[in-house]
Amino acid sequence: MNVRAIAAKVLNQVVEKGQSLSQALPAIQQELTPKDKALVQMLCYGVLRTLPRLDFFCRSLMKKPLTGKQRDLHFLILVGMYQLLYTRIPSHAAVGETVSGAKALKKPALKGMVNGVLRSFLREQETLIAKADQQPALLYCHPSWLVKRLQTAYGEEKAAQIMTENNQQAPMWLRVNARFHDREQYLALLTEQDKQAQGTDNNDNALCLESACDVYQLPGFEDGWVSVQDGAAQLAAHYLEAQPNELILDACSAPGGKTVHTLELQPELKQMVAVDFDEKRLLRVQENLDRLNLQATVIHGDASKPDEWWSGEQFDRILCDAPCSATGVIRRHPDIRWLRRDSDINELVSLQQDILQALWKKLKPGGVLLYATCSILPDENDLQIERFLASTSDASLIPLSSKVSETVCQRQILPNEQKMDGFYYAKLQKAL
Ligand SMILES: C[S@@+](CC[C@H](N)C(=O)[O-])C[C@H]1O[C@@H](n2cnc3c(N)ncnc32)[C@H](O)[C@@H]1O
Repeated sequence: MNVRAIAAKVLNQVVEKGQSLSQALPAIQQELTPKDKALVQMLCYGVLRTLPRLDFFCRSLMKKPLTGKQRDLHFLILVGMYQLLYTRIPSHAAVGETVSGAKALKKPALKGMVNGVLRSFLREQETLIAKADQQPALLYCHPSWLVKRLQTAYGEEKAAQIMTENNQQAPMWLRVNARFHDREQYLALLTEQDKQAQGTDNNDNALCLESACDVYQLPGFEDGWVSVQDGAAQLAAHYLEAQPNELILDACSAPGGKTVHTLELQPELKQMVAVDFDEKRLLRVQENLDRLNLQATVIHGDASKPDEWWSGEQFDRILCDAPCSATGVIRRHPDIRWLRRDSDINELVSLQQDILQALWKKLKPGGVLLYATCSILPDENDLQIERFLASTSDASLIPLSSKVSETVCQRQILPNEQKMDGFYYAKLQKAL
């Protein structure tokens, strides 16, 4: 099978059919060699990171856009342009392999057309690039609605920085299981294998690898010594500060990264209840618990309707890792910006509000609720919390950490801040 053609098919599924990259890619990668797998992945991620630019180049060079059954060829051309602009693949090989992709997509008669567009692109690329750079949506490769939202929230310069970071590759972060090793001990195991990693100040379990690797190459991965989780996501369990004998709710828990981290840090809980609305994703919570040999009560339920699944005992602490726009993790999921619509944001804000209000009623007096999102949009974050505080008389903000040195009650992490994903945290306490 032609790797360029496979990439074009995946891109068609994502951009035209709205399937997520994390669903479309593994489905098609199963039959490939590791080398081809890596190439398909690189091409799909790369095209999605630069989509509007490549679309613009293609539109400029063609009299009529490719639609309907020929739409896969449009993506094949984008794959060709991506290789010419952003990879070290020699141009004759990039063009040759891409043109052959037309045959693999069962459109051999259109090989000449693909060849013609790519050759015109090679001749005209400088002029086209200069034109694209004049439009922010093409320069930063984000949809106009998101450019506008980021500029309103952060100003033009900061928004430009954020979008540039969103287009970089994210590093691989590890969470060292505190039950087996401390960070220094695990770092020594990595060093023995010639793997370099760095720790960070405010998270004792986190290590950021210098270069990504297969999880099965990590010392003790199968035995639960280590997990893969971004540094910002790892802060949740630290900020939650679960104590012995407490009843904890992780209300939007799947795939379970924060559930298991909380259990790793606090082995003496009374009970951990892990809820999620998505039954399929909930299976991953159980898988994570099993791999790490941890226990939780896993419940398929709606966090905005706890009366449908709640046992009747109020929680000591609640983690509300709310469904959100995921605008903080665009560098890991370059398809998010094309799958989301501007109108989704208001819907998400209102769902988050419903969830927060419903969960608050299930929190003990004196209990703590940690609100988290992987969003960088104020509407979902500090403005959401501001509204909640204004309408909830028994809620107040408290410092994210009880360590004396950390006094902030809310934290907006921007993408690539200390190499982490974009994330937001706010910690609330219910009056006694
Ligand atoms: C940001 S993800 C959670 C990630 C998870 N906490 C972790 O660390 O692995 C948000 C989750 O909210 C779930 N979700 C969306 N709407 C929900 C609802 N009404 N009730 C419960 N879970 C919901 C989604 O299925 C998704 O798994």
